[in-house]
Parts: sequence; structure tokens; C-alpha cells
Amino acid sequence: MTLRIVGFAGSLSRPSKTRALVDLVTAKAAARLGATAATYDLTDLQPALVTAQALDDLEGLPRAIVASILSADALVVGSPVYKGSYTGLFKHLFDLIDPAALAGKPVLLTATGGGDKHALVIEHQLRPLFGFFEAVTLPTGVYASGAEFSDGVPASPALLTRIDRAVSQFPKDLLHRPTSTAA
Ligand SMILES: Cc1cc2nc3c(=O)[nH]c(=O)nc-3n(C[C@H](O)[C@H](O)[C@H](O)COP(=O)(O)O)c2cc1C
Repeated sequence: MTLRIVGFAGSLSRPSKTRALVDLVTAKAAARLGATAATYDLTDLQPALVTAQALDDLEGLPRAIVASILSADALVVGSPVYKGSYTGLFKHLFDLIDPAALAGKPVLLTATGGGDKHALVIEHQLRPLFGFFEAVTLPTGVYASGAEFSDGVPASPALLTRIDRAVSQFPKDLLHRPTSTAA
């Protein structure tokens, strides 16, 4: 059975630095683990997500994307920092997800911001959210400021080193872990 790693970026921008970061981290994780990779962002779930009050309100592609997230062997998630936290719509998606649906799932946390001032968004906002779900967040999160991108893609050597360090922390026994499939 092939492992499946799914990345999700909580950004509505196109192009999106967060999506570019999640794309790269997910690709590196998949390469390291011999897994398949797929990435999505909030725009992929529009316009249905905004008005959805339950996952059952999503149909077609948005519903399939959420199912893909929930059934992945591991996740890479990221959000742009908005006013010191993750975006509201990113939280709305996770508000619709069953509290038990991510239990035990390895999750690599990422975020992007204009500068470095809110780098602890990963520790103060994202990690507690995934702690609520009893997901297994990797010890190293990856925060990237705007200056660490070049032509829209992660470029600074320090950032690329952080990505490699975080990706190396995915458990090697992923194949043998039970995964949640609730959607
Ligand atoms: C509404 C809004 C609020 C923002 N708030 C912050 C913030 O509090 N701290 C920060 O460092 N950057 C902030 N930014 C900048 C974005 O986090 C940054 O440009 C991010 O990389 C954009 O990601 P994206 O290209 O995926 O949309 C904000 C941007 C917007 C549009």
C-alpha cells in the first residue's frame, strides 16, 4: 500500500506563498517517505466552504478534498498569519471536522507571514488547534517570512534547512499506523 501525504494551505490568495510552502514541504515529505502527494488550499473549497455549517453541506470536489485530507496517512498544513493567527476560513474548515477525525495523524505545521514578528503563530495557534484533535504534530514547525521567498517560492537557505529538519521528523513507521477515515 502506498502512503499518501496531503498538504492543505489556509490561504485564499493565488498565487499564494503559503501554498508554495505547503507544496514544497509536502513534496519533500513524499520523496522522503516514498509516498504520493497532493496539495489543496481554501480556494479549492470555494464557494461552498463559506456557507457550510457541516461537512455534509459540501459536495463534489470540495467534499472529495476534505475526504482526502481526513484519510491521508500524514498532513502538511499551513496558514498565512492574519492578525497574529491562522485565517478565519482555515479555522472554519476545521470547525466542521469531527473532533476524533485527526487523532493520531502526523501533522507538520507551517505558516507564512509578512515578517518574523508572528513566527510563534505555529506554537501559540496552530499547535493547540491540532492538539485539540489529538493529532501528532511534529516537533519542528516551519515559519517563513516574505523575505525568505524568491519569485514566490521558498528560497532562503535557512528556510530550506528548516524544511528538511521538519520533514525528517515524520515517523518512519507511518505505514503501520491506523488512519482515520471519517469524512
Ligand atoms: C488580512 C491580513 C492580515 C495579515 N496579518 C499579518 C500579521 O498579523 N502578521 C504578519 O506577519 N503578516 C500578516 N499578513 C501578511 C501575510 O501573512 C503574508 O503576506 C502571507 O505570506 C500571505 O500568504 P499568502 O500569499 O499565502 O496569502 C497579513 C495579511 C493580510 C491580508
